[in-house]
Amino acid sequence: MSAIKKQYKRVTTNSLIEMKRNGEKISMLTAYDYTMAKIIDNAGVDVLLVGDSASNVMAGHETTLPITLDQMIYHASSVVRASDRSLVVVDIPFGSYQSDSKEALRSAIRIMKESGAHAVKVEGGIEIENALSRIIQAGIPVMGHLGLTPQSIYQFGTYTVRAKEEAEAEKLLADAKLLEAKGCFALVLEKIPAKLAKKVAESLSIPVIGIGAGPNVDGQVLVVHDMLGMTHEFHPRFLRRYANLYDEMSNAFTQYNADVKAKDFPNEKEQY
Ligand code: KIV
Repeated sequence: MSAIKKQYKRVTTNSLIEMKRNGEKISMLTAYDYTMAKIIDNAGVDVLLVGDSASNVMAGHETTLPITLDQMIYHASSVVRASDRSLVVVDIPFGSYQSDSKEALRSAIRIMKESGAHAVKVEGGIEIENALSRIIQAGIPVMGHLGLTPQSIYQFGTYTVRAKEEAEAEKLLADAKLLEAKGCFALVLEKIPAKLAKKVAESLSIPVIGIGAGPNVDGQVLVVHDMLGMTHEFHPRFLRRYANLYDEMSNAFTQYNADVKAKDFPNEKEQY
Protein backbone atom coordinates (compact mmCIF):
# COMPACT_ATOMS: atom_id res chain seq x y z
CA MET A 1 0.00 0.00 0.00
CA SER A 2 1.49 3.33 -0.98
CA ALA A 3 1.07 6.26 1.33
CA ILE A 4 -0.07 9.54 -0.19
CA LYS A 5 2.77 11.91 0.54
CA LYS A 6 1.81 15.51 1.11
CA GLN A 7 4.26 17.97 -0.39
CA TYR A 8 3.22 20.88 1.83
CA LYS A 9 2.28 21.33 5.43
CA ARG A 10 -1.18 22.93 5.51
CA VAL A 11 -1.50 26.32 7.20
CA THR A 12 -4.03 25.96 10.03
CA THR A 13 -5.82 28.37 12.34
CA ASN A 14 -3.26 27.38 14.99
CA SER A 15 -0.35 28.16 12.67
CA LEU A 16 -1.73 31.69 12.24
CA ILE A 17 -1.88 32.20 16.01
CA GLU A 18 1.66 30.81 16.25
CA MET A 19 2.80 33.23 13.53
CA LYS A 20 1.45 36.15 15.54
CA ARG A 21 3.29 34.87 18.63
CA ASN A 22 6.54 34.62 16.63
CA GLY A 23 6.12 38.01 14.99
CA GLU A 24 5.80 36.49 11.49
CA LYS A 25 3.40 38.50 9.32
CA ILE A 26 0.46 36.65 7.75
CA SER A 27 -0.29 37.03 4.03
CA MET A 28 -3.84 36.67 2.75
CA LEU A 29 -5.34 37.26 -0.71
CA THR A 30 -8.81 36.75 -2.06
CA ALA A 31 -9.42 33.94 -4.56
CA TYR A 32 -12.60 32.86 -6.29
CA ASP A 33 -11.58 30.33 -8.95
CA TYR A 34 -9.33 27.29 -9.38
CA THR A 35 -6.65 28.71 -11.67
CA MET A 36 -5.99 31.90 -9.70
CA ALA A 37 -6.12 30.05 -6.37
CA LYS A 38 -3.53 27.51 -7.63
CA ILE A 39 -1.08 30.30 -8.50
CA ILE A 40 -1.59 32.08 -5.17
CA ASP A 41 -1.28 28.86 -3.17
CA ASN A 42 1.94 27.90 -5.02
CA ALA A 43 3.37 31.36 -4.29
CA GLY A 44 3.21 30.58 -0.57
CA VAL A 45 0.43 32.96 0.49
CA ASP A 46 -0.85 31.76 3.87
CA VAL A 47 -4.60 32.30 3.54
CA LEU A 48 -6.96 32.20 0.56
CA LEU A 49 -10.06 34.24 1.32
CA VAL A 50 -13.09 33.36 -0.78
CA GLY A 51 -14.44 36.84 -0.16
CA ASP A 52 -17.95 37.99 -0.94
CA SER A 53 -16.10 40.62 -2.99
CA ALA A 54 -16.72 37.93 -5.64
CA SER A 55 -20.05 39.74 -5.93
CA ASN A 56 -18.15 42.79 -7.26
CA VAL A 57 -15.15 41.44 -9.13
CA MET A 58 -16.57 38.17 -10.48
CA ALA A 59 -20.26 39.02 -10.95
CA GLY A 60 -20.12 42.79 -11.56
CA HIS A 61 -22.53 43.81 -8.79
CA GLU A 62 -22.14 47.23 -7.20
CA THR A 63 -22.07 45.78 -3.67
CA THR A 64 -21.39 42.48 -1.92
CA LEU A 65 -25.06 42.09 -0.95
CA PRO A 66 -26.47 40.14 -3.93
CA ILE A 67 -24.15 37.12 -3.86
CA THR A 68 -25.91 33.97 -2.64
CA LEU A 69 -24.82 31.12 -0.40
CA ASP A 70 -24.91 28.71 -3.37
CA GLN A 71 -22.68 31.03 -5.39
CA MET A 72 -20.19 31.36 -2.50
CA ILE A 73 -20.10 27.56 -2.17
CA TYR A 74 -19.40 27.23 -5.91
CA HIS A 75 -16.46 29.68 -5.69
CA ALA A 76 -15.20 28.09 -2.47
CA SER A 77 -15.17 24.53 -3.88
CA SER A 78 -13.11 25.69 -6.86
CA VAL A 79 -10.58 27.34 -4.52
CA VAL A 80 -10.41 24.34 -2.17
CA ARG A 81 -9.62 22.04 -5.14
CA ALA A 82 -6.66 24.28 -5.98
CA SER A 83 -5.17 24.60 -2.54
CA ASP A 84 -2.41 22.34 -1.20
CA ARG A 85 -1.02 24.58 1.51
CA SER A 86 -3.09 27.72 2.18
CA LEU A 87 -5.87 27.89 4.74
CA VAL A 88 -9.16 28.49 2.89
CA VAL A 89 -11.58 30.91 4.59
CA VAL A 90 -15.02 31.64 3.11
CA ASP A 91 -17.28 34.65 3.69
CA ILE A 92 -20.80 33.78 4.79
CA PRO A 93 -22.80 36.06 2.49
CA PHE A 94 -25.26 38.77 3.46
CA GLY A 95 -28.63 37.39 4.53
CA SER A 96 -27.31 33.96 5.47
CA TYR A 97 -26.44 34.60 9.13
CA GLN A 98 -28.03 37.84 10.34
CA SER A 99 -31.62 36.71 10.87
CA ASP A 100 -31.10 33.99 13.49
CA SER A 101 -28.33 31.88 14.91
CA LYS A 102 -29.79 28.58 13.65
CA GLU A 103 -29.76 29.87 10.08
CA ALA A 104 -26.21 31.11 10.64
CA LEU A 105 -25.11 27.65 11.72
CA ARG A 106 -26.92 26.01 8.78
CA SER A 107 -25.13 28.36 6.36
CA ALA A 108 -21.72 27.74 7.95
CA ILE A 109 -22.29 23.97 7.87
CA ARG A 110 -23.28 24.09 4.19
CA ILE A 111 -20.08 26.00 3.36
CA MET A 112 -17.87 23.55 5.29
CA LYS A 113 -19.61 20.39 4.02
CA GLU A 114 -20.20 21.33 0.39
CA SER A 115 -16.96 23.22 -0.35
CA GLY A 116 -14.43 21.54 1.93
CA ALA A 117 -13.21 24.92 3.21
CA HIS A 118 -11.40 25.23 6.53
CA ALA A 119 -13.10 28.25 8.13
CA VAL A 120 -15.75 30.92 7.62
CA LYS A 121 -15.71 34.70 8.00
CA VAL A 122 -18.53 36.93 9.25
CA GLU A 123 -18.93 40.70 9.50
CA GLY A 124 -19.93 42.47 12.72
CA GLY A 125 -19.48 42.51 16.49
CA ILE A 126 -22.00 42.32 19.31
CA GLU A 127 -24.92 42.30 16.82
CA ILE A 128 -23.96 38.81 15.62
CA GLU A 129 -22.85 37.43 18.99
CA ASN A 130 -25.41 34.59 19.07
CA ALA A 131 -24.71 33.47 15.51
CA LEU A 132 -21.00 33.48 16.26
CA SER A 133 -21.36 31.39 19.42
CA ARG A 134 -23.50 28.78 17.69
CA ILE A 135 -21.10 28.39 14.75
CA ILE A 136 -18.03 28.17 16.97
CA GLN A 137 -19.74 25.68 19.33
CA ALA A 138 -20.30 23.45 16.30
CA GLY A 139 -16.52 23.29 15.84
CA ILE A 140 -16.32 25.62 12.86
CA PRO A 141 -13.44 28.13 12.98
CA VAL A 142 -14.59 31.72 12.51
CA MET A 143 -12.67 34.78 11.34
CA GLY A 144 -14.27 38.10 12.37
CA HIS A 145 -14.42 41.30 10.30
CA LEU A 146 -14.79 44.83 11.75
CA GLY A 147 -14.33 48.41 10.57
CA LEU A 148 -15.64 48.97 7.07
CA THR A 149 -17.91 45.95 6.72
CA PRO A 150 -19.19 46.08 3.12
CA GLN A 151 -22.35 44.08 3.89
CA SER A 152 -23.52 47.14 5.91
CA ILE A 153 -22.71 49.66 3.17
CA TYR A 154 -26.27 51.00 2.98
CA GLN A 155 -26.16 51.73 6.70
CA PHE A 156 -22.78 53.53 6.37
CA GLY A 157 -23.76 55.24 3.11
CA THR A 158 -20.13 55.52 1.97
CA TYR A 159 -16.90 53.50 1.67
CA THR A 160 -14.82 56.07 3.62
CA VAL A 161 -12.57 55.27 6.59
CA ARG A 162 -14.47 53.97 9.66
CA ALA A 163 -13.95 54.53 13.40
CA LYS A 164 -12.32 57.96 13.16
CA GLU A 165 -14.58 59.22 15.96
CA GLU A 166 -13.93 58.10 19.52
CA ALA A 167 -17.31 56.44 20.10
CA GLU A 168 -17.02 54.22 17.03
CA ALA A 169 -13.36 53.45 17.84
CA GLU A 170 -14.32 52.38 21.37
CA LYS A 171 -17.11 50.15 20.05
CA LEU A 172 -14.72 48.60 17.55
CA LEU A 173 -12.19 47.77 20.28
CA ALA A 174 -14.93 46.32 22.49
CA ASP A 175 -16.27 44.26 19.56
CA ALA A 176 -12.76 42.98 18.78
CA LYS A 177 -12.32 41.81 22.38
CA LEU A 178 -15.75 40.19 22.27
CA LEU A 179 -14.92 38.30 19.06
CA GLU A 180 -11.74 36.99 20.67
CA ALA A 181 -13.60 36.01 23.85
CA LYS A 182 -16.24 34.19 21.78
CA GLY A 183 -13.50 32.10 20.14
CA CYS A 184 -12.75 33.69 16.74
CA PHE A 185 -9.32 32.56 15.55
CA ALA A 186 -8.51 35.79 13.68
CA LEU A 187 -9.94 39.17 12.83
CA VAL A 188 -9.96 41.33 9.68
CA LEU A 189 -9.90 45.10 10.18
CA GLU A 190 -10.89 47.05 7.09
CA LYS A 191 -10.22 50.73 6.41
CA ILE A 192 -9.70 52.16 9.88
CA PRO A 193 -7.00 54.51 11.23
CA ALA A 194 -3.61 52.78 11.55
CA LYS A 195 -3.27 53.91 15.17
CA LEU A 196 -6.54 52.21 16.17
CA ALA A 197 -5.62 49.03 14.26
CA LYS A 198 -2.31 48.90 16.16
CA LYS A 199 -4.14 49.25 19.46
CA VAL A 200 -6.54 46.42 18.54
CA ALA A 201 -3.69 44.13 17.41
CA GLU A 202 -1.80 44.79 20.64
CA SER A 203 -4.90 44.13 22.75
CA LEU A 204 -5.66 40.71 21.24
CA SER A 205 -3.76 37.45 21.21
CA ILE A 206 -5.50 36.28 18.00
CA PRO A 207 -4.05 37.58 14.70
CA VAL A 208 -5.41 40.82 13.26
CA ILE A 209 -5.24 41.04 9.47
CA GLY A 210 -5.60 44.48 7.95
CA ILE A 211 -6.79 45.97 4.69
CA GLY A 212 -6.29 49.71 4.77
CA ALA A 213 -5.44 49.41 8.47
CA GLY A 214 -1.73 50.25 8.38
CA PRO A 215 1.40 48.19 9.03
CA ASN A 216 1.12 47.52 12.76
CA VAL A 217 -1.21 44.54 12.54
CA ASP A 218 -0.36 40.84 12.22
CA GLY A 219 -1.00 40.41 8.52
CA GLN A 220 -2.33 41.96 5.34
CA VAL A 221 -5.08 41.10 2.86
CA LEU A 222 -5.88 42.52 -0.57
CA VAL A 223 -8.46 41.73 -3.22
CA VAL A 224 -6.48 39.87 -5.87
CA HIS A 225 -8.01 41.67 -8.87
CA ASP A 226 -7.03 45.01 -7.30
CA MET A 227 -3.42 44.10 -6.46
CA LEU A 228 -2.95 42.65 -9.96
CA GLY A 229 -4.16 45.91 -11.52
CA MET A 230 -7.14 44.30 -13.27
CA THR A 231 -9.63 46.73 -11.69
CA HIS A 232 -7.92 49.87 -12.93
CA GLU A 233 -10.69 52.32 -11.93
CA PHE A 234 -10.29 51.59 -8.20
CA HIS A 235 -7.58 53.68 -6.48
CA PRO A 236 -7.86 53.61 -2.68
CA ARG A 237 -4.78 54.91 -0.85
CA PHE A 238 -4.10 51.54 0.82
CA LEU A 239 -3.85 49.61 -2.44
CA ARG A 240 -0.42 48.65 -3.80
CA ARG A 241 -0.54 47.35 -7.35
CA TYR A 242 1.91 44.51 -8.01
CA ALA A 243 1.11 44.29 -11.73
CA ASN A 244 -0.78 46.13 -14.42
CA LEU A 245 -2.79 43.26 -15.83
CA TYR A 246 -5.57 45.46 -17.17
CA ASP A 247 -3.20 46.89 -19.79
CA GLU A 248 -1.40 43.59 -20.42
CA MET A 249 -4.66 41.68 -20.93
CA SER A 250 -6.20 44.45 -22.96
CA ASN A 251 -3.16 44.47 -25.29
CA ALA A 252 -3.34 40.69 -25.66
CA PHE A 253 -7.07 40.76 -26.53
CA THR A 254 -6.57 43.62 -28.99
CA GLN A 255 -3.71 41.77 -30.67
CA TYR A 256 -5.71 38.51 -30.87
CA ASN A 257 -8.66 40.33 -32.39
CA ALA A 258 -6.39 41.97 -34.97
CA ASP A 259 -4.68 38.66 -35.81
CA VAL A 260 -7.99 36.86 -36.36
CA LYS A 261 -9.36 39.68 -38.52
CA ALA A 262 -6.12 39.80 -40.53
CA LYS A 263 -6.26 35.99 -41.05
CA ASP A 264 -2.86 35.83 -39.36
CA PHE A 265 -4.04 33.41 -36.64
CA PRO A 266 -3.73 30.44 -36.87
CA ASN A 267 -0.63 30.20 -39.04
CA GLU A 268 0.82 27.05 -40.68
CA LYS A 269 2.45 25.82 -37.47
CA GLU A 270 -0.69 26.36 -35.44
CA GLN A 271 -2.82 23.76 -37.22
CA TYR A 272 -3.04 19.96 -37.76
O1 KIV B 1 -14.75 40.02 0.58
C1 KIV B 1 -13.59 40.42 0.71
O2 KIV B 1 -12.82 40.48 -0.25
C2 KIV B 1 -13.12 40.80 2.04
C3 KIV B 1 -11.77 41.43 2.14
C4 KIV B 1 -11.82 42.81 1.66
C5 KIV B 1 -11.22 41.34 3.51
O3 KIV B 1 -13.82 40.63 2.99
